[in-house]
Amino acid sequence: MGKNHLSASTQLTSIPAAVLTELNRQLTLEQYSVSCAYAMSAALENMQWPGMAKYWRKQAKDEQGHAKKLFKYMVDRDSPPVIEAVPAPPAMLTDPLGIFNYGLSNSKDVTVSIDKISQLAHDAGDYATFHFLAWYVKDQVKEERDILDAVAQLQHAGSDMSALLHVDHRIGKAR
Ligand SMILES: [Fe+2]
Repeated sequence: MGKNHLSASTQLTSIPAAVLTELNRQLTLEQYSVSCAYAMSAALENMQWPGMAKYWRKQAKDEQGHAKKLFKYMVDRDSPPVIEAVPAPPAMLTDPLGIFNYGLSNSKDVTVSIDKISQLAHDAGDYATFHFLAWYVKDQVKEERDILDAVAQLQHAGSDMSALLHVDHRIGKAR
């Protein structure tokens, strides 16, 4: 039985429509992040960089957690998400630095998106969503920092193969 059949007294407080639309979009973005992380991991496996491949495999798992947490929140608020098509990840670049730079740029896009929804929820007086998103705001700080650290290590290593092997080991261990 759909919620339209429930009397007003048995309905939960609802998520404002504009916020709901953005949460749906965010769920798709998290799922896109899962796909990108797996694509980057696969590309790095093909290039024989097991440490960096492990980094993105673990990130894919984290991204699945982000999607799951958001899904559950929407269900808890009686607004189950509409599942949309997830865009395909871009054709992967052929070097580790390019891959990590893409990962950083995607993470920054996610931060901007979370900030935008936080502002919207706040302005709409939807404090439940605003506070729910605080976890994501915090997690994005760590995620951007971690990827940036890896980018810096790769930049320092340049094309020095023994330095790159060391970086691969370190990045794999860091996660
Ligand atoms: Fe995420």
